[in-house]
Amino acid sequence: MKTTSRLPMYVANWKMYKTVGQAQAFAQGLRAQLPNDLASPGPTGREMVVCPPFTALAAVGDTLRGSGVRWGAQDLFWESEGAFTGEISPGMLQDVGCSCVIIGHSERRQHFAETDHTVHQKLRAALAHRLTPILCVGESLQDREREVTFQIIARQIKLALHGLPATDIPQLVIAYEPVWAIGTGKTATPVQAEEVHAFIRKLLGQLASETMSQQVRILYGGSIKPNNTAELMQSPNIDGGLVGGASLDVTSFLQIAFWDHTMARTPGGPRA
Ligand code: PGA
Repeated sequence: MKTTSRLPMYVANWKMYKTVGQAQAFAQGLRAQLPNDLASPGPTGREMVVCPPFTALAAVGDTLRGSGVRWGAQDLFWESEGAFTGEISPGMLQDVGCSCVIIGHSERRQHFAETDHTVHQKLRAALAHRLTPILCVGESLQDREREVTFQIIARQIKLALHGLPATDIPQLVIAYEPVWAIGTGKTATPVQAEEVHAFIRKLLGQLASETMSQQVRILYGGSIKPNNTAELMQSPNIDGGLVGGASLDVTSFLQIAFWDHTMARTPGGPRA
């Protein structure tokens, strides 16, 4: 059992899946199966977050309010209001009870022209509105093959945080998602993931302080499934997961979030 005071966090990133009705059914199913001691300090404590599409946020929020599960958006825009067709402001997210927001997901960087600069502006806006930013970073397969993974991750983090006070750093959640592992069924090995997570924590220590870096949850994402969670989550610097495909089903999301409770049923569970 690893020793850390960081509360593990499991985030469901539904991407562009689920209608309002389907999202509500998931939220009701999740609520019905939650343990009473969710988010309590100690080995069984967990923070759980559901990030549905914008259209389902209000319904998911209404169903999860008071359950201890948080809900968040998959993106935001940095302006408060204005003529920005198609965009959603931080205040609009707060209005539907969001307390978190995913920022800089690789699919947005790849398909929607998200840059390190727009990531920075979104991060700044989220922090200013007390929305927990879940900042996504990760290298492509080409980056990994060229052995520039650490340079890429360092650049993404430094540019995202550029000019922010060090005291903002403990408010962050960082998700390390190797692009080659997202939705591909390929997962980073625990050794590959831990190596990058440890690097990120060290970098945060340099940008802020060792103490502040120890407070930041660093999640792993990329083809997390119930049968590979336990192996990954035992690493000292992996504090939970950002889960895509496997978060669309209540049972599988719960098996992932509570891997230590379910390991008897989880093939390839943790080594003794
Ligand atoms: P995946 O997605 O679990 O389906 O690989 C993870 C993510 O993109 O956040």
